[in-house]
Amino acid sequence: MDKDFNVSGWSSLAIHAGHEENDVQAHLTPIYASSTFVYDSAEQGMRRFSGEEKGYIYSRWGNPTFSEAERKIEAMETFGLNMEVKGILHASGMAAISTVLLATLKSGDKVLSHYSLYGGTEELTQQLLPGFGIERIIMDLRDLNKSEDAMKNDSAIKLLYIETPANPTIQCVDIEELSKLARKYNIKVVVDNTFATPYLQQPFKYDVDFVIHSTTKFLNGHGTAIGGILLGKDLELMNTRVKKTHKMLGGNTSPFDAFLLTQGMKTLELRMKRHCYNAMEIASYLSAHTAVEKVNYNGLASHPDFEIAQKQMKHAGAMLSFELKKGLAGGIHFMNRLKMCVRTVSLGTVDTLLSHPASMTHYGVGKEERKKYGITDGLIRMNVGIENLEDIIKDLEQSLDI
Ligand SMILES: Cc1ncc(COP(=O)(O)O)c(C=O)c1O
Repeated sequence: MDKDFNVSGWSSLAIHAGHEENDVQAHLTPIYASSTFVYDSAEQGMRRFSGEEKGYIYSRWGNPTFSEAERKIEAMETFGLNMEVKGILHASGMAAISTVLLATLKSGDKVLSHYSLYGGTEELTQQLLPGFGIERIIMDLRDLNKSEDAMKNDSAIKLLYIETPANPTIQCVDIEELSKLARKYNIKVVVDNTFATPYLQQPFKYDVDFVIHSTTKFLNGHGTAIGGILLGKDLELMNTRVKKTHKMLGGNTSPFDAFLLTQGMKTLELRMKRHCYNAMEIASYLSAHTAVEKVNYNGLASHPDFEIAQKQMKHAGAMLSFELKKGLAGGIHFMNRLKMCVRTVSLGTVDTLLSHPASMTHYGVGKEERKKYGITDGLIRMNVGIENLEDIIKDLEQSLDI
C-alpha cells in the first residue's frame, strides 16, 4: 500500500498496514529464517551497529518478518488516534510483560494492580518480582477513591498495571479514570489488552504509556503460535531502555510465529464481529437455561462492569463464564458431553473453547481460595468461537442435559 494512501476501514488497515515490498517481490513477506544479517563492508557493519544506517543485525534484535507484525499492531492500536507508538514483538505475552516490568521498575518500587489478573502475571508479580525488591499492591481498581488513596499515599508506586477485561473473571476497570489518576501522581500505566484486542478497545486513547498483548490469543486467532507484543508511546524510552531490556532478556519471537500472526491478524475485524455477535447470543441463551445459575458477560446489563465495558469497548468481546447449578459434578458431566466445542484452557481462537477451572486450571487451589476469585465449583469459562451459532447452541443444549 502506498504511504500516502490513508485507509478508512479496519480490515483494510489490518490487511495492508506494515507490509513492505521485499527483494524478490513475493506477495507475502517471507519467513526470514535467519539468525543474522550480513554487511557489504566493515564500514556498513559499523554504520548498522552505531544506528547511523537502518538495517537488521541479529534476529534477537529484529527481523523483517517480525517488523510486518509489529507495524500492523502499532497501526491497529493507534487507528484514528493521530499518534505514533513503537511495538516490539516477543516470544509470548509473558515475555512482553517481563520486559515492561523490568524496564520500568527497580528495587524499592511498587506496582499497583487489580486483584483479578491472568495467573502467569499473578505469579510473576507475586513470586519473582519480590526477589528483585519490587512489591505488588493488590486492590479492587474499580473503586476509584481507594485507588487514588493508594497512589497518593505511597510514592513508591511507579507503575499501574491494568488488565481489562481480566482473565479469568472478565471484570473490567476504567482505563480513562485510572489513567488520569496515575498521571496526577506521576505513575506509568500498562494495559494488557489481550481479551479486547485493538479492534474492540484502544487504551492509548486514554493516554496510557504501554499496551501489551498475548498475541497467542485473538490477534493470531487460530491457536497456531505463542507470541506477545509490548507497545509504548514514549518512542525515546522504547528505543533505548525498553529495547535494551528486551534484547538482554532474549524474549524474541520466531520468524515462523510472526508470519502466522501476520496472516491471522488480517481477519481480525471479521472474526471479532462474529465472536461478539455469537457471544451475546450465547449469553442470552444461557441466561434463560434452567441448568444455569448465573452468566457473567460484560454485554449483559446485569453484569457489574457493564457500564465500563460499554464506555471503553466497541462490543463486549468473546469471553464469558457461567455457573452450573449442579456444581462440580455438573461441571464435569457437562464438559464430558461436549461433541463439537473443544475442552481446553486457551482462548482467542476461531473455535469455541470451554474450560472448567475447578477440575482443570484451578484443580489444586483450595475451594475457599478459589471462591475469592469468583471461581465456584460449577463455573465454566467459554471462548465463544465463530462457528455457526446454531451449532454452538446445539452442542451446549445436549451437554447441558444434566
Ligand atoms: C490476559 C492475558 N495476558 C497474558 C497472557 C500470557 O500470554 P502467553 O501465554 O502468550 O505468554 C495470557 C495468557 O493466557 C492472558 O490471558
